[in-house]
Amino acid sequence: MNILILGSGGREHALAWAVLQNPKCDRLIVAPGNAGIAQIAECADIDTLDGGAVASFCEAEAVDFVIIGPEAPLAAGVADRLRQAGLLVFGPSAAAARLEASKSFTKEICDAAGAPTAAYGHFTDAEAARAHIRAHGAPIVVKADGLAAGKGVIVAETEAQALAAIDDMFGGEFGAAGAEVVIEEFMEGEEASFFVLCDGTDVLPIGTAQDHKRVGEGDSGPNTGGMGAYSPAPVLSDAIADLAMEQIIKPTMAEMARRGMPYQGVLYAGLMIKDGQPRLVEYNVRFGDPECQVLMMRLGAQALDLMQAAAEGRLADARVNWADDHAMTVVMAANGYPGAYEKGSVINGLADIADSSSQIVFHAGTSLRDGQVVATGGRVLNVTARGATLAEAAQRAYAMVDCIDWPQGFCRRDIGWRALG
Ligand code: AMP
Ligand code: GLY
Repeated sequence: MNILILGSGGREHALAWAVLQNPKCDRLIVAPGNAGIAQIAECADIDTLDGGAVASFCEAEAVDFVIIGPEAPLAAGVADRLRQAGLLVFGPSAAAARLEASKSFTKEICDAAGAPTAAYGHFTDAEAARAHIRAHGAPIVVKADGLAAGKGVIVAETEAQALAAIDDMFGGEFGAAGAEVVIEEFMEGEEASFFVLCDGTDVLPIGTAQDHKRVGEGDSGPNTGGMGAYSPAPVLSDAIADLAMEQIIKPTMAEMARRGMPYQGVLYAGLMIKDGQPRLVEYNVRFGDPECQVLMMRLGAQALDLMQAAAEGRLADARVNWADDHAMTVVMAANGYPGAYEKGSVINGLADIADSSSQIVFHAGTSLRDGQVVATGGRVLNVTARGATLAEAAQRAYAMVDCIDWPQGFCRRDIGWRALG
């Protein structure tokens, strides 16, 4: 099978690594890829937002199966365009991708499906939004409706912060994404991520994870795209996962099918858990990054069979072969991230780290310059390991971190603290 993966981050490096372990994979191309991906697969420079260009590439290169990593091509309808061309694709239609691309759409679906989530109001007018905030008080959560690269959510501790967020969003700070705003009740609890595959009808859980969004140790400082993750997440027990399936995920999938937009791909449910009850924070229509890295570390070669089963509508017969293992990924980021950071610093020591089925450094933002790996992004490396316990996975991951010679980078030393403590 010839496979094309779209994307260029640590998520796509992890997907490529898992897919390559499956003997079904004859040829793997990643577009556009990065320096780490280039060590294990072919990289191709195509515009991943241009469905026509991707379809022509697939025809020219005899691609059989396309796996779409990030949300932007999904929201742009690339999966639809490829399916029109007769290709097998893992990833939802643009209509179904609105579960991530529009927060008000998701709230409406949750209402129709009876899925527990935060109470909310939806506003296109700044004055009405301000009145809602004044009536409800703080803490309260203000969200730009559209895709805002993870930056469109303000958890306001005071009414003044919430009102300032309204000024920013209607003032154009988030572009078109902020022209509509969702204001939500603040939910207390512990957050965890639940990943399921969907084929339009059936749903198969493939793992739980917990991310670390804040840049600093002890979950301090500004939000980031995620500074590390581990799987499984003990807070998402089997009993809570069952509740999430029955109360949130299956009713959402049924509602999507009822509306003529069946969902196919991976669905990532961000859950808030309190007193044994999960509530939905948000859906994403793709794997989390860096959560995908720990899921792929645990699933290995079967990830390809499962994604293919989802794309072919065969999930009813699919099973996950669970090993009783734990995985952790530690993100190494450029000094300054999530604020301004420099690009182009050289990373040494990577060649001394032996890859195996239990440890690998996935690349998130790197390129090759004169044979050297240089940092080209904010989040740069995802140092990933597994073990019989989370403590063992952590020990292996941090041992690799200590081999990496990169003075211009940093990481959190406390990934997994909630589960390890
Ligand atoms: P989202 O992009 O919707 O996941 O929001 C980003 C982060 O904001 C989430 O991971 C939560 O930590 C926080 N958040 C979002 N909505 C709420 C809410 N209603 N109550 C509490 N925290 C929230
Ligand atoms: N790590 C959070 C996300 O991928 O959205």
